[in-house]
Amino acid sequence: MNILKNNLTFEKMEEKEVDNIKNIEIEQNISILSKESIKNELNSTTSFYYVCKFENEIIGYVNFSTVLDTMELNSIVVKKDFKQKGIASYMLDKVINIAKEKNITKIFLEVRKSNTPAQNLYKKFNFKHINTRNKYYSDNLEDAYIYSLSL
Ligand SMILES: CC(C)(COP(=O)(O)OP(=O)(O)OC[C@H]1O[C@@H](n2cnc3c(N)ncnc32)[C@H](O)[C@@H]1OP(=O)(O)O)[C@@H](O)C(=O)NCCC(=O)NCCS
Repeated sequence: MNILKNNLTFEKMEEKEVDNIKNIEIEQNISILSKESIKNELNSTTSFYYVCKFENEIIGYVNFSTVLDTMELNSIVVKKDFKQKGIASYMLDKVINIAKEKNITKIFLEVRKSNTPAQNLYKKFNFKHINTRNKYYSDNLEDAYIYSLSL
């Protein structure tokens, strides 16, 4: 499928769309936050969920939070059938623009040591590996790599 950027939209997620993003996680055996936690975060003024849509279908989402002039990129997930078509790059570009509008000076994120696709994505946007949290993830004691991008 040839996805042209012109056919994509990037907009704030609505509460009724929480099931859609959970389904994107479920099909890939990922579980980041429960539906309840996501719904609670939707009322927050410092945590944001945005969805990417193609022909009205939600094909990816991103969650980030801000503290003072820093942003934490908590998750970026693309629907299985739409991977490796530039969707995450499209969303990350939008997030970086939002960060600049909010006068954010640094974006931080954590990623599993084994998650090469995500690390390649971040490196493509010039994020740097700045630290490692050994055995950070409790499920398999995998290391977390911390990346940051200075704006
Ligand atoms: C990581 C993820 C978000 C990338 O989404 P995507 O839409 O496929 O990414 P893009 O098509 O924009 O690719 C951007 C770059 O990522 C890298 N990349 C993407 N998929 C890759 C893969 N399977 N293997 C290696 N590198 C990969 C490449 O460097 C690519 O750049 P290129 O197209 O110039 O080669 C997606 O694989 C995903 O949803 N993974 C599961 C959730 C996850 O792990 N999220 C990150 C932690 S929350």
